Amino acid sequence: MDPIEQWIRRLPKAELHLHLEGTITPSTLVELSSLGDAAPITLSQAEALYSYADFTGFLQAFKAVVTELRGPAEYELAAWRMLQALAAQGVRHAEVFLSVGVIFRLRPEEDQRDPHLFARIFSALERARLRGERELGITLYWIFDAVRHFTVDEAARVFRLAAQMRRDHPSIVAIGLGGDERQTGSTPYRALYAQAAAAGLRLTNHAGETTGPEAIREALSIGSERLGHVLSAIRDPALLDELKLRQIPLELNPTSNVRTGVCPSLQHHPIRRYFDHGLLVTLNSDDPAFFGATVEDEYRLAHQHHGFTREELRTLAANSFRASFLPEAEKLRWLDQIGSCS
Ligand code: ADE
Ligand code: ZN
Repeated sequence: MDPIEQWIRRLPKAELHLHLEGTITPSTLVELSSLGDAAPITLSQAEALYSYADFTGFLQAFKAVVTELRGPAEYELAAWRMLQALAAQGVRHAEVFLSVGVIFRLRPEEDQRDPHLFARIFSALERARLRGERELGITLYWIFDAVRHFTVDEAARVFRLAAQMRRDHPSIVAIGLGGDERQTGSTPYRALYAQAAAAGLRLTNHAGETTGPEAIREALSIGSERLGHVLSAIRDPALLDELKLRQIPLELNPTSNVRTGVCPSLQHHPIRRYFDHGLLVTLNSDDPAFFGATVEDEYRLAHQHHGFTREELRTLAANSFRASFLPEAEKLRWLDQIGSCS
């Protein structure tokens, strides 16, 4: 590793846009399969699941991988492998999407039969989270993610669960909407977002990934506090000014956007222009096992392709904690450590 890579690893970082299911590598998938399958899949069979040609294909591949997550043991192992990978990159805090909507959609009969299925899965995830805190010194918050192109009723169930479960599990901090924005924007979710906010949940949203700036305005209009991707804001100077004025935290995912084909190359990604415009930019990996780049890689790529200096990378790391849902005192503690990281 060259000196800048070593320094990036030492730099305390928070990852704010990361899907648990998207961290499952082919080798972890083989391990998962061996937990419950009579004939476990091979590594090459697992690897084949990760090929896709476009954004729609990516969402299908994502769903195929989630299918291997059969129950609590699988979720616990997936979360533990994710935490190990994060800790190895110097990520000290992560806010992770859990595709709760997909769990119910994939297992309708089991869901009918076992009203405690999700509670058992979540207990297993909490075991992994607490182990990560204890053994790796990394903190983890959960974001319950609904799939926007399923039904509003399905999202309502996901957000209701988040509101109920956070009373006993303060690690559940926020809700989000993933899925295919080309099929539906944010307006149908306005009332659900208001109810979630009233229940004390923070609000994130994927916006402007496959769609234009109007989708980003729509996401803001329903109260989204933090926005994922925000790729198309570059086409709307007035929107850029609004994002700057309000210092809306942006969860950017450059490699993801190139790999799903929504951005032609890293050079075309607007991260540099957003940063120079004074937006609150953070760097994230989204689904690293599908896109071949971790968040640590994203910092290195920002340096190599967009000329981010050490001090600018330090600002990106500081932004990741500023934009997190951590308590203020925790944020200040991390900002202090980032300032003195040499
Ligand atoms: N779910 C997982 N990754 C996603 C992405 N990049 N966009 C929308 N939904 C997703
Ligand atoms: Zn995402």
